[in-house]
Amino acid sequence: MRVIICEDYDGLSKRGASIIAGLMERKPSSVLGLATGSTPIGTYGELVRMHREEDLDFSRVTTFNLDEYLGLPEEHSQSYHYFMEENLFKHINIPESSVNIPNGLASDMQRECEEYEWKIKGSGGIDLQLLGLGRDGHIGFNEPSSSLASRTRLKTLAPETIEDNARFFEKREDVPRFAITMGVGTIMEAREILLLASGERKAEALRATIEGPVSAEFTASILQLHPKVTIVADEEASELLKRRDYYKYVESKAEELAQGQS
Ligand code: F6R
Repeated sequence: MRVIICEDYDGLSKRGASIIAGLMERKPSSVLGLATGSTPIGTYGELVRMHREEDLDFSRVTTFNLDEYLGLPEEHSQSYHYFMEENLFKHINIPESSVNIPNGLASDMQRECEEYEWKIKGSGGIDLQLLGLGRDGHIGFNEPSSSLASRTRLKTLAPETIEDNARFFEKREDVPRFAITMGVGTIMEAREILLLASGERKAEALRATIEGPVSAEFTASILQLHPKVTIVADEEASELLKRRDYYKYVESKAEELAQGQS
């Protein structure tokens, strides 16, 4: 695991975007797994800026979002379709046909989930999966006790998640109770994973993700078993990490090491 600690949210967003843009430059037809929530908004903003000012090209990129609420129409202001359109897609040159988000209104959910998995496989697999981190340790909507081998399916949201997401809805009762989400096993098949964590509310979850035992009680901890994970956190989110100084030291030496190896 590579742990990069940035000073603040702005630094985290720029670092996250530069990792994604770097991949796109190496592979213009990248398949990106995307997340919603408040954490990646700055990263998307920076990618949009790079598209406008530095010609970052999305024309050959394919995207797969992690999840979508059950029962919300695409045009609902809290649907993840709407979120992605507003924060990224409408500002860049990605073809509509290259965007994939689970359909929370599908009449046959089992089929929707299976087809989503096939589409990911058919695209050649996800090159880089972007993740946020739930306070209960979820990635996607893989709540505590999710199978660590799970695939795309319907999940019942945990009370902490409903509470956290209530800030986006008028009333707590309006928060959907179910979502379609890529499974932990689906996420783990991405060739590279980029997890972003910001703010002290995430400090405990980040500690458990990086330094805790691997456990279904805390699904993000499975990332310890993935061969290529980068975690970009800000100072506040990283404040409970036991080896925080070591991670910073490693990063300060990373450039020196890269030069030595070339
Ligand atoms: C969103 C998602 C969730 C969020 C997580 C953190 O697509 O899959 O796992 O990444 O709930 O949300 P924020 O960033 O709002 O704290």
